[in-house]
Amino acid sequence: MHPMLINAVKAARKAGAIINRAAQDVSTIKVMNKTYNDFVSEVDHASEQAIIETLKEAYPNHSFLGEESGQELNNSEYLWIIDPLDGTTNFLHGFPQYAISIALLHNGQLNQAVVYDPTNNLLFTASKGRGAFLNDRRIRVSQRAKLQMSLIGTGFPFRDFQHLDTYMAMLKDFIPKTSGIRRPGAAALDLAFVAAGWTDGFWEINLSPWDIAAGALLIQEAGGIVGDFEGNESWIHSGNIVAGNPKIFAQMLQVLQPHLTENLKTAAAVKRF
Ligand code: IPD
Ligand code: CA
Ligand code: CA
Repeated sequence: MHPMLINAVKAARKAGAIINRAAQDVSTIKVMNKTYNDFVSEVDHASEQAIIETLKEAYPNHSFLGEESGQELNNSEYLWIIDPLDGTTNFLHGFPQYAISIALLHNGQLNQAVVYDPTNNLLFTASKGRGAFLNDRRIRVSQRAKLQMSLIGTGFPFRDFQHLDTYMAMLKDFIPKTSGIRRPGAAALDLAFVAAGWTDGFWEINLSPWDIAAGALLIQEAGGIVGDFEGNESWIHSGNIVAGNPKIFAQMLQVLQPHLTENLKTAAAVKRF
């Protein structure tokens, strides 16, 4: 395993232990409301602190972008992007579908990725050019060729409703054109499922870099494709993301195309870090 991935895994496992301990009694966890329907708990903060501490011990001069602590930009070629608990709403309800997501960018390019589901001890990892793994086994995207036969993951807008009508129109279009749609509730894991071939594709509007950076590298290293709704590279900034095995990715883009509003198109030009 690449040394930087080893350290990322160490950080993710520490965070996983914190989350698993807290999951034993979610009723006592302190929860704050960031904005409408956007909850953050003491567990999110403790997890992020453990991850950043572990990584800083190994790499004191790297830059960091954490969901809860924000940006700490040093003059480094390396940027760690961290979601300490992806799927907080699930976690707070005891719904066992949440994960830790850690990605490393080198000169702006995805380089290392960890998505860890601590409930089921599923450790998804990838290093640029070296493939994607679940625990110690190589994973690959599915080979399904027809959208009609596919199982597709997604996420609903639930905090910011500016794209709700557009999203509902997309969903309405996808439902009869697929075998089924799933909304598990943790984007990093949703992407890991595409990498593992458990779903054939995924799309969501307006995600954040920490939700998708690690999952995207998993998919690319598993032989899949990640893009924005026009098939371009802006997804990490716009958060408008579609992913899948190469054949399903192309068919998903066709379904999404008629729903591209000006708002979605201009989001492609925004830089988030
Ligand atoms: C959320 C989850 C969810 C997605 C949201 C994300 P959080 O992350 O990934 O699946 O639909 O948009 O913000 O807030 O639980 O880390
Ligand atoms: Ca998240
Ligand atoms: Ca989070």
